Amino acid sequence: MSGLIRLRGFIQAMTRLADAGATERRWLTEGAGLLRGLVAVDDWLPDDLAEAGPAYRQNLLHCDPAERFCVVSFVWGPGQRTPVHNHTIWGLVGMLRGEEVSTEMRPNPAGGPMLPGQVDRLRPGEVVPVSADTYDIHVVENAYSDRTSISIHCYGGNIGAVARSVFDPATGATKKFISGYSNALVPNLWDRSKELAA
Ligand code: FE2
Repeated sequence: MSGLIRLRGFIQAMTRLADAGATERRWLTEGAGLLRGLVAVDDWLPDDLAEAGPAYRQNLLHCDPAERFCVVSFVWGPGQRTPVHNHTIWGLVGMLRGEEVSTEMRPNPAGGPMLPGQVDRLRPGEVVPVSADTYDIHVVENAYSDRTSISIHCYGGNIGAVARSVFDPATGATKKFISGYSNALVPNLWDRSKELAA
């Protein structure tokens, strides 16, 4: 199995999980297992969705038609990072290529600069959950200053359309944030001609 067949199989399995009415707990365990399978092999992400830009890119790979989940490739150019942000819905982050560092950011009870919390470094093949039930505010950056890193994320909704927040790390002030996506076209998972011809 190679190429987009792998992504298609993953999306089909995630859709079955959605159809089974998965709770957040099931998404974060069974969905994590599925994502672990997807990022175990780095041979399927189309090159145009793996290319770094002037800022990090958030490319939609698939959104469930009922917006129960979505799949996104995050492409980090050297040294690129997100703003401090939250999600408000569950998420799964799987490292496909390179490494990234996620740092929890906590409001300062005394006011002033936000305080860094737990720091996690994600290596290829690893999958971690994010959940508003545990802690939901972080900043994510490429662990490398000299190469691209790519992670594959799933969220419990259409993340590009979710009204959430970015935070000013100097003051903790919040601003409404609807991220959208960097790409205009999603991968074509449904041309089966090559497999059928084989
Ligand atoms: Fe995030």
